Amino acid sequence: MSIKLGVLGAGIIAKTFMEAVPGVPDVEVSVICDADAETARALAEPRKIAWVTDYRQVFQDESVDAVYIALPHHLHEEATIAAAEAGKHILLEKPMSNTLEEADRMLAAQRRAGIKLMVGFTHRFHSEMETAKRLIELGGLGQPTMVVDVITTGGKIPKWFWQKDQAGGGVLHLNGSHSFDRIHWLLGADVSEVFTFMDTYGPGRTVEDSIVVALRLNNGAIGTTVHNWVGEFKMPFKCDLDIYGTNGALRIKTWDSLQFYSQHHSWQQKRERDDMFEKEIQEFASAIIEDREPGITGADGRRSLAVVLACYESARTGRPVAPSY
Ligand SMILES: NC(=O)c1ccc[n+]([C@@H]2O[C@H](COP(=O)([O-])OP(=O)(O)OC[C@H]3O[C@@H](n4cnc5c(N)ncnc54)[C@H](O)[C@@H]3O)[C@@H](O)[C@H]2O)c1
Repeated sequence: MSIKLGVLGAGIIAKTFMEAVPGVPDVEVSVICDADAETARALAEPRKIAWVTDYRQVFQDESVDAVYIALPHHLHEEATIAAAEAGKHILLEKPMSNTLEEADRMLAAQRRAGIKLMVGFTHRFHSEMETAKRLIELGGLGQPTMVVDVITTGGKIPKWFWQKDQAGGGVLHLNGSHSFDRIHWLLGADVSEVFTFMDTYGPGRTVEDSIVVALRLNNGAIGTTVHNWVGEFKMPFKCDLDIYGTNGALRIKTWDSLQFYSQHHSWQQKRERDDMFEKEIQEFASAIIEDREPGITGADGRRSLAVVLACYESARTGRPVAPSY
């Protein structure tokens, strides 16, 4: 079976996505949509794919089975609900939405329509993350005691990412949504409480670009997550997650390597291939073909969002906050 996919949004991440699609034989992109005609055309024409500028045309197209939504965050709710009502399965880029009310309406639309909804937490498909998860599940770290998750960078991104009315939140919403998902997924535990300091240093921005979060997990571990994206520096992306346990520790250098340390052993696994999008698309396709829940669900999207919003509430009130799961 070949799943016919519509791609909504032909921006930065859609380009990466399109490079991965040929590696998934079960999926064929039949139409690309972007409100900006030149952007849609530039991604579609070299691949001999149809393109449109209004995503309602994609929903009306009965030959389209599923959509990949890679739109600015404030459009995630509207596009998801319209896609669900048109009976399309949905692979939705993170973060799920800007508010929990939006997320709840999206989940209700999905339930009504009976379609698959997967949220694009790509980090789960990095090979170093997959190995780390197996090792933690086998008890290789003993009892987890602390997580330290740091994502800092300085590249150029579209201006809307720094505007609250479109992005919903700043660097935590953008990158911290990955952090909270990967911490939850790797440890099988939920963040139970957060305390946050945050600020905005870049000019013209209405969301935070610098944030430090202290957190407590419901498995007894504590931790922190740090996010910074102030200037357009030519600085390599840092995306490191350390997990400490009573018997050993892991250092995950995302896109690079996994390191393990215990009293008597240490080893390193270098990343072999950048194929996380391929694995993500394959998982989405398999969930449709096998008629099962995808490995990452709308509930996972809502969970990560609940922690992000708790962090903002803590920064606003100056108090520790428990996420509203
Ligand atoms: N999984 C990841 O690691 C990862 C990485 C980067 C971005 N993302 C997520 O992907 C999504 C898109 O981010 P991006 O970096 O590609 O942004 P982008 O700005 O490069 O792309 C968004 C595109 O949507 C188009 N668009 C805006 N309004 C539209 C409308 N009404 N109809 C059709 N098209 C419209 C824009 O013209 C633009 O080309 C966001 O949710 C972002 O957080 C995920």
